[in-house]
Amino acid sequence: MDLRGVDVRFGRVHALSGITLRIAPGERVALVGANGSGKSTLLRVLHGLVPASAGTCITALPHQQAMLFQRPHMLRTSAQNNVVLGLWLRGSRWGAARKTALAALQRVGLESIAQQNARTLSGGQQQRVALARAWALQPDVLLLDEPTSSLDPHAKREVERMMADFANAHAEQGRAQPVTMLFSSHNLGQVKRLASRVIYLEHGQLVADLPVHDFFNGPLPEAARLFVKGELV
Ligand SMILES: Nc1ncnc2c1ncn2[C@@H]1O[C@H](COP(=O)(O)OP(=O)(O)OP(=O)(O)O)[C@@H](O)[C@H]1O
Ligand SMILES: [Mg+2]
Repeated sequence: MDLRGVDVRFGRVHALSGITLRIAPGERVALVGANGSGKSTLLRVLHGLVPASAGTCITALPHQQAMLFQRPHMLRTSAQNNVVLGLWLRGSRWGAARKTALAALQRVGLESIAQQNARTLSGGQQQRVALARAWALQPDVLLLDEPTSSLDPHAKREVERMMADFANAHAEQGRAQPVTMLFSSHNLGQVKRLASRVIYLEHGQLVADLPVHDFFNGPLPEAARLFVKGELV
């Protein structure tokens, strides 16, 4: 994925300004920054949901990507059907999709509520269904917007384990390219555990882009340093 000088404007709001970055296959990139700094917008641009107002944006083909939204959208049908529909829309047969969907729900520990109307699930359960929906698609690029923000500590660990597994399983499946993962997070412990690279955004600008070790141990631009210090206390 390759972004050059990407701006995104919503009316008078400059959500992103002059973003230039290249992400190689297999990278695990964390997006961090304060509320409103542009993390969700950057993920949306990468997923082709928001057009760049300026600059160029080259991404993977849409069917090779899956995105988990900050507020997952559930259709008014069973949890299993929510996952099945995602697969069916990408051309899977209904019967095969049902099996894959159930396996994906098992992965996130929700097989017992597979038949429950997804709209009646708790926020954390819905987030896990959404993760199952993204995981079931076996994308080359997985974009996750605050994937664990509404989960309890146990579920948070489980989802983190899934994210790590997902990257490894993909490699084991002998795919041509390792999975690329981009996730936004306010949880710096999670960033340390999962990311290989950290991008820090401030007011829509890319202020730091560093290997994870350097982000936490090296010198940082002042704003990023204060952010890390503030988030860690
Ligand atoms: N559809 C939209 N219309 C107008 N303004 C928008 C829209 N989407 C985002 N913005 C604005 O763009 C800026 C960046 O928002 P964004 O959601 O990308 O931030 P974020 O880093 O994801 O924040 P958070 O940590 O709260 O999720 C904010 O000022 C926001 O109000
Ligand atoms: Mg956001």
